[in-house]
Amino acid sequence: MTKDLNIICVHRSKTIKDAINSIYQSGIRAAFVIDDQKKLAGIVTDGDIREAVLAGKNLNSSVTDIMITSLITATKDTSPSELLKTMTEKSIYQIPIVNPDGTMADVVLLIELKQVPLSKQDITSEEVEAIKEVLSSPYLTIGPKIKEFESVFADYIGMKHAIAVNSGTSGLHLAMRAFEIKDGNEVITTPFSFIASANAPLFERAKPVFVDIDEKTLCIDPAKIEEKITPRTKAILPVDIFGYVADMDPILDIAKRHNLIVIEDACEALGSEYKGKKAGSFGNIAAFGFTPNKQITTAEGGIIVTNNDEVAELCRSMRNQGREEKPGSLAYTTLGYNYRMTELSAALGVTQMKRIEEILARRSQIASLYNERLKKIKNVHIPYVGPEINKMSWFVYVIQLNPEKFSRQERNEVIAKLGKRGVNCRDRFPPIHLEPLYVGTFGYKAGDFPITERVSGATIALPFHNNLTEEEVIYVCDSLEKVLSEINPDPRKGSGFRP
Ligand SMILES: Cc1ncc(COP(=O)(O)O)c(C=O)c1O
Repeated sequence: MTKDLNIICVHRSKTIKDAINSIYQSGIRAAFVIDDQKKLAGIVTDGDIREAVLAGKNLNSSVTDIMITSLITATKDTSPSELLKTMTEKSIYQIPIVNPDGTMADVVLLIELKQVPLSKQDITSEEVEAIKEVLSSPYLTIGPKIKEFESVFADYIGMKHAIAVNSGTSGLHLAMRAFEIKDGNEVITTPFSFIASANAPLFERAKPVFVDIDEKTLCIDPAKIEEKITPRTKAILPVDIFGYVADMDPILDIAKRHNLIVIEDACEALGSEYKGKKAGSFGNIAAFGFTPNKQITTAEGGIIVTNNDEVAELCRSMRNQGREEKPGSLAYTTLGYNYRMTELSAALGVTQMKRIEEILARRSQIASLYNERLKKIKNVHIPYVGPEINKMSWFVYVIQLNPEKFSRQERNEVIAKLGKRGVNCRDRFPPIHLEPLYVGTFGYKAGDFPITERVSGATIALPFHNNLTEEEVIYVCDSLEKVLSEINPDPRKGSGFRP
């Protein structure tokens, strides 16, 4: 992006095409039209150009034909808060700053005044001190902090063993290895997830077999699992999406009847509870992840939990190149990897776990603030939390737009427009079965998992982190309401959508 006046300004003798070129080169959504004395005469936005072209206007017509002359301008003395107020109230993304003689001096963009990040890690001075201590200790890896983190974590989840690894993905991979999931096996899982959950069986050349999701919980629909079971099925891999624990009772029941392993992907659900039990405590094994957007972070990192002694020992060995887990032994007894967590990460994990309840409470409070404001906005569906979830650990805050009113493309436009207001959002998640890897490998196509596809075309993950302020939540919600009405200007047409 450039604010070079030679690029962002076009002379009034120029054409619409020249204005498009100016916008393209500057990356700013408008070109500023100037006269012979270089005084600001008007503005042409990308939206004005789009409308003019749709109305059949020739690109070689004069830029003055479509420029707006009733301009909102500011001077160098206008305060940032005044600028921000004008921009947000009037839905303006840029304001030209003019000199006393009317010539253009500069331009101020909304995104320069306001940025609400999608996520942000929350590291306190206590955590910084914990890392410093490790740095001056004899251990940077395989030391006491790993043991402490594992012990704290296993206790918290209520499982016998916790094995720290360097990512949630590594954890899922070791779960595959530990239960001998291999070529020729099938693993039943959800296409609505972060791609790592479906990739894990692929690491061992097993096939991920997708089952569509429940439209409320957004987790795998247990009612559709049995029809996908074949003699090759070895495991079910439910994902606790966005922190929502999958419907574990029927899943465990199916697994028991068909003699299947349950591998829980709890990477997003640290602290959530389903019918009084913690996420990660249901299956034969579970994996958690700790990237910086998670409830707690170890920068990169993950952990496996299990009650099975043999599996725990095998996972400990495999994370460390397959070295035997016996004191003093240097024998490599199985094929392993370097999936070790560092002591620095573990120290971060231990310190963050000390305030886990405080973190979850804060996230819950922010989710409630969002719920309160968003439930008043038509065509917005706030996240569902059913009665079986007696504690929701919010990983992200994901709304859905009414798909009858906003197409996938319009949803993308909403995200882009929010970005221009400094509200950083994203779609979450694109359907895994439609990723090129999966289309190419398994021949999946659009329409195979209709609920996943519909939901995935409607989701918007709003900014969400421990330190999001109420004022920021209000700004996000107001911006969303404005942007929705720009794209679908008659909210009365909305159906009061609630899936
Ligand atoms: C559902 C799910 N599974 C697996 C992972 C993988 O975790 P990591 O990024 O730590 O490898 C993530 C991470 O974001 C996730 O959200």
